[in-house]
Amino acid sequence: AAVLEYDWVVGYLAAAPDCVEKMVIAINGQFPSPTIHAVEGDTLVVKLKNNLPTEGVSIHWHGIRQRGTPFYDGSAFVSQCPINPGETFTYKFVVDRAGTYFYHGHLAMQRVAGLFGSLIVSLPSGKTEPFSYDGDLSVLLSDWYHKSIYQQELGLSSIPFQFVGEPQSLLIQGRGKYNCSLDLPPGGSAATSSPDCLQCNATNPACAPFVLPVQPGKTYRLRIGSMATLSSLNFKIENHNLTVVAADGRYVEPFVVDNLDVYSGQSYSVLLTANQDPTRNYWVGVNVRGRKPATPTGLAILQYLPNSEHLLPPTPAPTGPVWNDFAVSLAQAQKYSAKKGLESAPPTTSHKLIIFLMTQNIINGYTRWAVNNISQVPSATPLLAAFKFKLWNAFDQTPPPRRPPQYTNNKHFDIFATPNPNTTHASLGNGVYVSKLGEVVDIVIQNTNTLVPNNSEIHPWHFHGHDFWVLGYGEGVFDPRNSTKTYNLVNPPLRNTVAVFPYGWVAIRFIADNPGVWPFHCHVEPHLFVGMGTVFAEGIHKLPHIPSQTLGCGLTKPTRW
Ligand code: C2O
Ligand code: CU
Repeated sequence: AAVLEYDWVVGYLAAAPDCVEKMVIAINGQFPSPTIHAVEGDTLVVKLKNNLPTEGVSIHWHGIRQRGTPFYDGSAFVSQCPINPGETFTYKFVVDRAGTYFYHGHLAMQRVAGLFGSLIVSLPSGKTEPFSYDGDLSVLLSDWYHKSIYQQELGLSSIPFQFVGEPQSLLIQGRGKYNCSLDLPPGGSAATSSPDCLQCNATNPACAPFVLPVQPGKTYRLRIGSMATLSSLNFKIENHNLTVVAADGRYVEPFVVDNLDVYSGQSYSVLLTANQDPTRNYWVGVNVRGRKPATPTGLAILQYLPNSEHLLPPTPAPTGPVWNDFAVSLAQAQKYSAKKGLESAPPTTSHKLIIFLMTQNIINGYTRWAVNNISQVPSATPLLAAFKFKLWNAFDQTPPPRRPPQYTNNKHFDIFATPNPNTTHASLGNGVYVSKLGEVVDIVIQNTNTLVPNNSEIHPWHFHGHDFWVLGYGEGVFDPRNSTKTYNLVNPPLRNTVAVFPYGWVAIRFIADNPGVWPFHCHVEPHLFVGMGTVFAEGIHKLPHIPSQTLGCGLTKPTRW
């Protein structure tokens, strides 16, 4: 195995992802940040210099379990202090399993500013994939806002609450095209509208769509991942079927789709055969799912060589399923099962069950998200260090509830009803769910109605440090006695990110076998920002030695000069 070293500088960059110039947070002047290609077993050494003059930064390696290196997980105020302006921090960890992963900023909303990239881990020579292909391609999907993350953060933490709204553009590998007509004053023309639109109309090479070149007749492994802020996405290539073979770095039993749902934080490998009319090119289209679309289709081009990449497909842009047909999304989610012989089955029983009730609440006038009535706020001291050094004043010592109080007070509470914000009792907190090392834990994530009548939303939940089995999905309220009977305990898929659908629940099982302190949260950034997350810890008596570069903030400040 090799040691791969990277010298990275994080800084602001003027860039035009959708051909309107804005500020992004970039690495080495690139947006998206550089793609890392590694081989299973390699050690990555990333020297990260923070050149942002006014803010700290940290980088999370999404999907990498960080066994033995929980302090390099990159979650600010959980695994480390933010890296201060001017400072350099060195991440060093092993990528122990082939697959398609990501890295991204994990402090406030920096990911939304474009601080993300792909981390692709291949099998070492001698090991072969359980499917064959002629070429390897990858696309990173995202959504894009014209409002700065600072304005977005301000709106989310104001009274009255101002939501970030729908994104302006959808990006494929960092490229999109803003719909300038959205900016037009009534009766105005593009030439008289905002400066944004003038750039849009300019013949700007940055406005050209991303191109995926293929040789007719060949089969490609296409890696598709999403780093979206808010949007659940649907990916489709005109006239082509996709065979799904892997999800979140784990093998699944192959199945064929015409379009693929991709939730923020998830990655997929699909096989794509270039078996259509080779005299033309085809649209690759990305559309919003689960929220009333206010964003145009994101487009890229599947180029059949030797056609020119400028040869535009003669057909209209692809549309996905109807945005609010959740039955379609649920049916696709239920198609996943672990690849026989290559992935393990879960333990048949668990030691404990935690039920997460996700609610939107008003706390002291602020609009927040909460899990079991606790809305997460970061602690000023990294929690890993707090456990290691027994800094018990650093965070709430009362563990968060394992059951939503609503279940105990009234087990027939109505998740379809609009909650009355005056009768909820949520509060801010940062307690931790502590598991015994080796414990088998089930978590059921239960969706509810938001504060808006007749509205329930998709939430993709991501776990750091672990893959978990997705045991099942259900509609309505989870019933601990009966719902468990529908679990798949034979070949459930292993994932690190799973979507909870409106007015439904999802059940997962994991083994707490990775000593460390691990965030588990909704990957929708504005949801996490207002509290939709929690933290698990295990093996706290076996925590490794913590490098001093992760310390220095909160109660880990040096006490002597
Ligand atoms: Cu990709 Cu904690 O997230
Ligand atoms: Cu969410």
